Amino acid sequence: MAYPADRPRRLRSSERLRDLVAETDRLAPSRLVYPLFAREGLGERRPIPSMPGCAQLSVDLLVDEARRAQDEGIGAVLLFGIPDRKDALGSSGRDPDGLVPRALRALAEKAPEIVLIADVCLCEYTDHGHCGALDERGGVANDETLPLLAEAAVACARAGAHVVAPSDMMDGRVGHIRTALDSNGRTDVAILSYAAKYASAFYGPFREAAQSAPRSGDRRGYQMDPRNAREAVREVRLDDAEGADVLMVKPGLAYLDVLARARAATAKPLAVYNVSGEHALVEAASEKGWIDRRRTILEIMTAFRRAGADVVITYWAREIARWSR
Ligand code: PBG
Repeated sequence: MAYPADRPRRLRSSERLRDLVAETDRLAPSRLVYPLFAREGLGERRPIPSMPGCAQLSVDLLVDEARRAQDEGIGAVLLFGIPDRKDALGSSGRDPDGLVPRALRALAEKAPEIVLIADVCLCEYTDHGHCGALDERGGVANDETLPLLAEAAVACARAGAHVVAPSDMMDGRVGHIRTALDSNGRTDVAILSYAAKYASAFYGPFREAAQSAPRSGDRRGYQMDPRNAREAVREVRLDDAEGADVLMVKPGLAYLDVLARARAATAKPLAVYNVSGEHALVEAASEKGWIDRRRTILEIMTAFRRAGADVVITYWAREIARWSR
């Protein structure tokens, strides 16, 4: 009888041996980003039904939550604002005393160690729900949107954001925001660019959370077509050249090939957004008892790391941090 010449199973025989030769390390809490939704009020916690475990929080409670994340060793929080007032140009998103700047000022004081990332987009603040200003024909006007985004980014930087994260997918916004930050004396504030953000059905629960679904039409005129991967490399290179400090691929699970390609296209740190629909799939299946929730979540995190992510944005950040103790 001929013996197999090569036996990969030899290195799988014990846990210590597997750990010794594993190609991918467990995701450390320091690489996780925890998204938080700020709303008006005091002592207000509104659970988001489609995102079990997540809630819209008034600034006081949001600060408590960020402190807990900080104490668990989580790298950063990512802030979204859910304002009471919306208008055509999303002015509440550019207000230096708006929700996110107020949250940032409170966090800078009360959670001084955690990295503060502010999402910069108009969709939560516009009454039409699109990520930019509309033109006469109802389309989203690229170049008219850029100064609005820059203004929002500068307001967040002044309020204490260490990183601003434009998620609108307008062309040229990274360069525009970089110039605005620099000319306002904030050369120190970094840009995490949602470089390859797809027009995805996986954002459904988030849009409920942020009340940011477009009133009419969809986002396919500015977000990427899920059929394209070469174009993602082009987007990553463009944002890299415009001065983004960290590049992101979003969503994560259905786009691991894109993540791997982005990894090869830039030397800069790479982030992935484990989006609301991915969260919902796992939560719903585990509620039915159809999958092992914890193992599934950790396997997804390992997949992101294996595909090349340095940073993972996930609603499970606090739980994962606790498991890694
Ligand atoms: C837009 C934004 C979206 C998400 C993050 N930022 C939604 C969208 O583009 O419609 C989605 C996040 C998620 O689904 O978890 N500002």
